[in-house]
Amino acid sequence: MIIIKTRDEIQQMRESCRVAARVRDELVRLVTPGVTTKQLDEQAARLIAAMGGTSAFLGYRKYPGNICLSIDAEVVHGIPSDRRIEMGQIVSIDVGVVYGGFVGDTATTVMVGVTDPEVVRLVRTTEQALVEGMAMARKGNRLSDISHAIETVVERAGFSVVRDFVGHGIGRKMHEDPQIPNYGPPGCGPKLKEGMTFAIEPMVNLGGSAVEVMADGWTVLTVDRRPSAHFEHTVAIGEDGPEVLTVVA
Ligand code: MF3
Ligand code: CO
Ligand code: CO
Repeated sequence: MIIIKTRDEIQQMRESCRVAARVRDELVRLVTPGVTTKQLDEQAARLIAAMGGTSAFLGYRKYPGNICLSIDAEVVHGIPSDRRIEMGQIVSIDVGVVYGGFVGDTATTVMVGVTDPEVVRLVRTTEQALVEGMAMARKGNRLSDISHAIETVVERAGFSVVRDFVGHGIGRKMHEDPQIPNYGPPGCGPKLKEGMTFAIEPMVNLGGSAVEVMADGWTVLTVDRRPSAHFEHTVAIGEDGPEVLTVVA
């Protein structure tokens, strides 16, 4: 069942999502060569606490970090560790915050001195896929219109959509109905209604779409070990179109 939020609940989600967005943007500034992913995780914990929130990830199904940091061939759910960020890498930062009883979930991929034009194109394409997916998040459309818009951008660029992980409804819980695949035909699934809130999150591989989970039980890797990018926003279906909630303003 897709939970419709009231105006008041949407206002509360604006607040939880703003906290998540502020943490995300602060971490983007801290992703530099030499820093360890654990140091970034500790900064995230401090920032979230300073804003009066808690991590939505820590302890979720026993996840051990405050955030997820996924480097190069890591797709999502990378666990913070003593690994150091290096020049030429792409680093995806996924932040989930609980604030005032609601969750905000957002991710971005940072290029650390990347010079490979194919990797630059991968990251830009993934962000553009998110933008075009979000643009379909309007009442009257169907859920898979979002999925199809994302897939279209990715396929046109010659990259692969990850099929084993999907976007999701979000609210008082991080993962609510519905699941939102990043692929599919247009015009299918439930009709979108004002007050629905979705985390839309394309994961895009430079090579093939196949992924596997590492022995740590969390880190998702591309099977071909070529790079993967991830962008995510929490979005509300508004009266006259999508409202991106995970913004700083
Ligand atoms: N934030 C992820 C998502 O976008 C989920 C993270 S799972 C966790 O759905 F265990 F790391 F929290
Ligand atoms: Co996320
Ligand atoms: Co999510």
